[in-house]
Amino acid sequence: MTRLTVLLFSITHLSGTLPTELGQLQSLESLSIAACKLDGTLPTQLGNLSKLAVLGFDGANFSGSIPAEILGLSNLKRLGFRECPRLDTKSFLTEVIRNLNNLKWLSLGSGKTGGFTSIPSEIGELTNLVDLILADFQLNGTIPSEMGLLTKLKYLDLQRNSIKGSLPEEFSKLSQLRVLFLHSNQLEGRPLEPELLPQLTQLRWLHINDNLFSGSIATDISLLSSLEELELQNTNLSGTLPKELLLLDNLTSLVLMNTSLSGSMPDELCGVILSPHEVKRFGGNFYSVPTTNLPPP
Ligand SMILES: *[C@@H]1O[C@H](CO)[C@@H](O)[C@H](O)[C@H]1NC(C)=O
Ligand SMILES: *[C@@H]1O[C@H](CO)[C@@H](O)[C@H](O)[C@H]1NC(C)=O
Ligand SMILES: *[C@@H]1O[C@H](CO)[C@@H](O)[C@H](O)[C@H]1NC(C)=O
Ligand SMILES: *[C@@H]1O[C@H](CO)[C@@H](O)[C@H](O)[C@H]1NC(C)=O
Ligand SMILES: *[C@@H]1O[C@H](CO)[C@@H](O)[C@H](O)[C@H]1NC(C)=O
Ligand SMILES: *[C@@H]1O[C@H](CO)[C@@H](O)[C@H](O)[C@H]1NC(C)=O
Repeated sequence: MTRLTVLLFSITHLSGTLPTELGQLQSLESLSIAACKLDGTLPTQLGNLSKLAVLGFDGANFSGSIPAEILGLSNLKRLGFRECPRLDTKSFLTEVIRNLNNLKWLSLGSGKTGGFTSIPSEIGELTNLVDLILADFQLNGTIPSEMGLLTKLKYLDLQRNSIKGSLPEEFSKLSQLRVLFLHSNQLEGRPLEPELLPQLTQLRWLHINDNLFSGSIATDISLLSSLEELELQNTNLSGTLPKELLLLDNLTSLVLMNTSLSGSMPDELCGVILSPHEVKRFGGNFYSVPTTNLPPP
């Protein structure tokens, strides 16, 4: 099938190994074989598919290392090796940065092989990135300031790692971000003060829970007018809850339990958003609700 341009086998029960003859499909532009039971190693012949723009093996059971030949595929725009626990995606990250500067979408999340590593400062060279997923990737160290060079990013997922330190001030340059998942790390500092996250005015989902963050929620939070989800639980954020949250018309989820926030809940906020389910999620130490607004428990 040497004229085939798209080959997509996703969520199948395909098993066995990938045949080396795949390298003969010279016209392939998109190859996705995700969520399947294929195992064995990846054939080096993948490097022959010079027209490939999309290569996705998310959720496959391959092992070993990713063939260096893939780094020669200069047309690649999307590359996905998410949930490939037996594949060494860690050492591949550095190589990708050196070789594939045109990538728009990179997902290497859920890497369990290769031990802890930190985000290389050279990440700033992938200036075309729109989506970056390094979730559950055994990352330690800090977020390099060069991350601020990725100004086209819309989706950044660094959840469930061991990243430490504060968000670099350059983070405020990621003004296109729609989704920011930083939850379940050991991050500190004051992310919700005016000069940092309130600058990211396109944000829809902001999850920074389960970190060591502190500081208050700036009234500038109202600049995030598209915000839908704000998850702040299990942090040391303090101060009072600004009334400006009421200006966020699209907010559907606000989670505040186990923080150091104090004062009372703006009455209007309770009337606007609390369903019985959400009341349960609020829980914790910050909870002052006029009962007349609530249905019986
Ligand atoms: C992945 O491959 C290993 C080794 O062949 C096998 O033991 C394991 O069951 C496979 N996992 C899945 C989810 O197929
Ligand atoms: C395919 O790739 C192999 C291994 O990388 C290489 O030896 C071979 O010359 C390539 N064939 C073509 C037709 O490019
Ligand atoms: C990250 O973990 C590795 C391996 O455990 C260790 O060698 C390295 O010092 C750690 N780096 C940081 C910045 O904590
Ligand atoms: C709020 O959501 C609606 C419906 O999805 C959308 O049309 C509107 O643009 C959103 N508002 C903002 C400020 O993003
Ligand atoms: C409450 O949040 C802190 C971080 O501020 C965390 O260490 C602790 O485990 C959390 N407690 C519970 C019960 O989740
Ligand atoms: C949490 O914040 C409060 C108020 O800012 C401070 O007094 C306290 O030491 C902080 N706790 C931790 C564990 O950082």
